[in-house]
Amino acid sequence: LPILLLNGPNLNTLGVRQPDVYGADTLDDVVTTASRVAEGLGYPLTARQTNHEGVMIDWIHEARGAVSGIVINPGAWTHTSVALRDALVVPEVPIVEVHISNVFAREEFRHHSYVSPIASGVIAGCGIAGYDYAVRQIAAILA
Ligand code: DQA
Repeated sequence: LPILLLNGPNLNTLGVRQPDVYGADTLDDVVTTASRVAEGLGYPLTARQTNHEGVMIDWIHEARGAVSGIVINPGAWTHTSVALRDALVVPEVPIVEVHISNVFAREEFRHHSYVSPIASGVIAGCGIAGYDYAVRQIAAILA
């Protein structure tokens, strides 16, 4: 079963929004690299991004029984959404939370995550390489 790579709001603007914080690479670059890493480990990668919370929640529900693990950068929903966190327990697969920036070195409101307590692991501040680490971690947990 594939590894599911989910990106939340505004991550479609990677490479354009605050490149000093999030880098110059685009979401396409992220997906290309993460797909290569996943395939090298024997997993296809399915990648999705949305700016709509309900759409994201529907995708997470549909992942139950259909994916082997989830890598998610929930963007700002990290800090706001109980609904997203509740959805993420539905598939009953390992989840790794990724933040490109070091959220703990930024504003106070980014220090709390609703998602972290239900994640297997959390990666922050490693730039887009964090997505690759997360894919590797999912594969390691499944092995
Ligand atoms: C982010 C950090 C969040 O605080 C922010 O709202 C984002 C991106 C990151 O990847 O560093 O949109 O999740």
